[in-house]
Amino acid sequence: MQAIAVYEGTNEPEIIDLPQPEPDDGEALVRTLRVGVDGTDHEVISGGHGGMPADDDYHVLGHEAVGVVEDANGTDLSAGDVVVPTVRRRPNGDNEYFERGEPDMAPDGQYHERGIVGAHGFMADYFTSPAEFLVTVPPELAELGFLVEPISITEKAVEHADASRSAFEWNPESALVLGNGSLGLLTLAMFEQRFDRTYCLGRRERPDPTIDIIESMGSTYVNSNETAIPEIPDAHEAPDLIYESTGYAKHPYESIEALAPNGVLALLGIPGDWEFEIDGGKLHREAVLHNKAIVGSVNSHVGHFEAAVDTLASLSEPFLDNLVTGVYDYENHEAAFVNDNSTIKNAIQFSRYEERR
Ligand code: NAP
Ligand code: BGC
Ligand code: ZN
Repeated sequence: MQAIAVYEGTNEPEIIDLPQPEPDDGEALVRTLRVGVDGTDHEVISGGHGGMPADDDYHVLGHEAVGVVEDANGTDLSAGDVVVPTVRRRPNGDNEYFERGEPDMAPDGQYHERGIVGAHGFMADYFTSPAEFLVTVPPELAELGFLVEPISITEKAVEHADASRSAFEWNPESALVLGNGSLGLLTLAMFEQRFDRTYCLGRRERPDPTIDIIESMGSTYVNSNETAIPEIPDAHEAPDLIYESTGYAKHPYESIEALAPNGVLALLGIPGDWEFEIDGGKLHREAVLHNKAIVGSVNSHVGHFEAAVDTLASLSEPFLDNLVTGVYDYENHEAAFVNDNSTIKNAIQFSRYEERR
């Protein structure tokens, strides 16, 4: 079968030939439909994040997949089911986080992430997975099912942000998303359904397709070149929730100041090391005297994927049409990895739902 991988020492995805995997007990064989590309994939390709499987000198990419069960192999699934795989797998044997269904809370070293760290990803004609990590999706979502994984990331982050505000009566009205990449825009669409007023910060000038999407949702675009985060309360309002999805390491510190009293800041970006000066005393005081919460969040579990399936079904068609800028057959995978201002969310197609091989 064909797969898309990067070889050790290279930064170029290429098509490679691999044997079709065979499911072990408890695993199903899945025919891949589509696999999305996000900022993390670019970090994996450049070597900035993640790591190869220990025994191989290549890494099959991709962690945002949707496929069709080809062989249920005695599991509770049925051939023909449309499924989305979760990302984390047991590294070497079980551990408490996997045992209780919360692999997303496992610390570094106690998980592999398919396509990211220690395990091959889903960019291949077929993949196998334990059935416990396959979430079924209605057939009508087969084409867009690759968006379930990124949506699940926000389902988790918001669950944790809400939990941090559950000890008192919190009635948030406004939310600010930092970053107009695919994660930021998906999150903004989710926030549109919940908050009275939403804002999205980017660094792009008009005309730009992401600004069009932001405004078409009724949200306000904040250009960080004109309005720095600490100026947002005066220019607009102090948001009750700030969701960081830029990976720009100064943003968390600027956000503590901008947040409304009793607000919560959710951090999703994964920056490299960067030393800079901050007024730690001021930020410390601000967080304490205004009861502000800061929540870091990574990955997601089966429950978040299930919630994400419902959320995906609720998102508007015009928004999704504008978000998905390209779906390319795997032979043309280079186009899917183009990372400039003309692309938002790209995906690679391995087969079609209707196809039978
Ligand atoms: P992405 O496509 O690279 O999006 C990042 C966006 O942030 C881009 O639109 C970028 O703008 C914008 N940005 C960066 N620096 C900025 C600045 N200084 N001011 C204003 N805007 C800025 O990545 P993504 O896939 O959406 O993911 C977003 C981040 O979340 C990444 O760091 C990724 O690693 C992380 N992530 C984390 C998780 C998790 O589980 N915690 C899951 C998925 C992704 P331009 O495009 O104009 O450069
Ligand atoms: C993936 C998560 C993963 C995180 C850190 C994200 O892009 O969507 O599943 O946990 O990267 O590797
Ligand atoms: Zn991702």
